[in-house]
Amino acid sequence: MERKAAVAAVMRFAYADPPYLGCASYYRQHHPEADIWDDPETHRRLIARLGDEYPDGWAMSASVPSLFALLPMLPADCRICVWVKPFCSFKPSVRIAYAWEPIILAGGRKRTREQRTIRDWFACEIAMKQGLVGAKPAPVVHWILDLLNVQRGDSVADLFPGTGIVGRCVEARCSGVATLADLPLGEAAA
Ligand SMILES: C[S@@+](CC[C@H](N)C(=O)[O-])C[C@H]1O[C@@H](n2cnc3c(N)ncnc32)[C@H](O)[C@@H]1O
Repeated sequence: MERKAAVAAVMRFAYADPPYLGCASYYRQHHPEADIWDDPETHRRLIARLGDEYPDGWAMSASVPSLFALLPMLPADCRICVWVKPFCSFKPSVRIAYAWEPIILAGGRKRTREQRTIRDWFACEIAMKQGLVGAKPAPVVHWILDLLNVQRGDSVADLFPGTGIVGRCVEARCSGVATLADLPLGEAAA
């Protein structure tokens, strides 16, 4: 009985989408202190804060090159999920395109047998013309919310709002306007 109540309880999650390690220059015009994100120590502090303040679960975006620095900072039981980008920007100077991004996942609501299984990867093209490098497409945000198993009534702190797309997806999900069952993306990825 107690266990059932715990599964149904409202949960507090967070999603962190900081400037990726080594990519702070993209954000200097948006944030005067962007350069602190080129220091691995800032990422270590963020990961520690996520664990301390969001024991129910959290997700964090990162780049593939930054994984070498970040992996030793992560809790051993976290998952590395993958956003695959069928279309992304191909630069002549980059011979092997960076066409996927890691999504680090810690905790999350336990899934019931009735809930469909979520894959640890999701394919979706990058968001274009958002006025911000690294803006996430709405389907990717919903997949991340699915990974955490966010339900109506939960909260998800968007620690790096940027365009605000994460907050809008969270609002739709947590207010009940959009539910997991309404979203076709899980089927599309199946
Ligand atoms: C990858 S973007 C977030 C994109 C957002 N999730 C979206 O989908 O629109 C990183 C954000 O961190 C902000 N930022 C940069 N330096 C920061 C700092 N020192 N403190 C807080 N935010 C910062 C940037 O301005 C940018 O909005």
